Order: sequence, then structure tokens, then C-alpha cells
Amino acid sequence: MEVETPVSAQHHESGTSTPVGTRRSFFTRVTAIIASFIGISMAVPILGYVVAPAFHRRKKEWVPVSAIDDLPLHEPQALDYTVTIKDGWHETKSTKGVWAIKHSQDEVTVFSPICPHLGCGFRWDGQDRLFKCPCHGSIYDLKGSVQAGPAPRPLDSLPMKVENGQLMVIYKEFKSGLSEQVEL
Ligand code: FES
Repeated sequence: MEVETPVSAQHHESGTSTPVGTRRSFFTRVTAIIASFIGISMAVPILGYVVAPAFHRRKKEWVPVSAIDDLPLHEPQALDYTVTIKDGWHETKSTKGVWAIKHSQDEVTVFSPICPHLGCGFRWDGQDRLFKCPCHGSIYDLKGSVQAGPAPRPLDSLPMKVENGQLMVIYKEFKSGLSEQVEL
């Protein structure tokens, strides 16, 4: 009686072919690796494009607020201007104000208009030559130093420069109620 030899045994014995299962899993792995490389090489630039702006949140820029010749010497002036605030992908325009005191053609003190106590707007009293906050009575002198009231720190000064006859500032806001300046 003739005994039938199994197919796998026939292949093994002849030594003329690679087992089908091994070859298929090899190609599957190579395909997966190539697909991974393609996926990563596409994902990295896309992620950079999407995520990068989040790392440049609230980018601050120099903004012209007044011609330097328009400012009187030693007299605080309230100046309004429009800023573009970039927050990641989001861009908004908003009107801001600062107080500017010109000491010379290239030296100007610029104050944030926000009272460091709890964030009210203060005004300049030309008669007393003091800044006064109506909310809780904080009073500041021309240099921004606290003269009275609950303010925990002097007025917040802002970066300034004079370029091509224009007073330029970088608008910033700070946390209220703290003795030290903490930028928002
Ligand atoms: S917010 Fe100005 S004194 Fe309180």
C-alpha cells in the first residue's frame, strides 16, 4: 500500500522553494515599515504647520502711537491706538491706550493705563500733577511711584523707542494686585 507524503514535507525535502507563510510576513513587515516612514515624513511638516503658531502666542510688536513732535514736554498725554494681537492662528485688532510723558525728543516714559491695584483706568490731575485712580484712591506721581492708596506697586511702564519721528511702544498687560510685575 502506498503512503501519501504531506505537501509541506515534499517542499522541505526537495529544497527548491521558500515557505509561503514566511515570505508573506516578510513583505507585510516591509510594507508596514515603508508606510510608517511615509506617514511620519508627512505628519512632521503638517504638525509643525499646525502646532508652531501655538508656541508664538501673543506675539507683541512695536506700534507707532504718536509723532514725537506732537507731544508736549513733561505733560502726560493719553494716547489711543490700534494693535493687532496674534494669538496662535487668531488675529484680533483692538484699541488700546497708554500714558506718555515726553522728557526730550528721544526720551519718553510710557505707562500702561491700567491701575496695578485692581485694574481700573486712572486719570491725570493736571492741577495736583498726580495720576489718580477713582476706584480705591491710589495716587501716583509723574514717575509712577505710589503716593497714596492700596496700590501694591508703581505704575507699569512699557517698552518704548523713537523711530523716524514716531513714538513706538509694545503694548503689554500685567497681573493686578501683585507687588511685582507679572506679564499676562
Ligand atoms: S483699582 Fe486703582 S486703586 Fe484700586
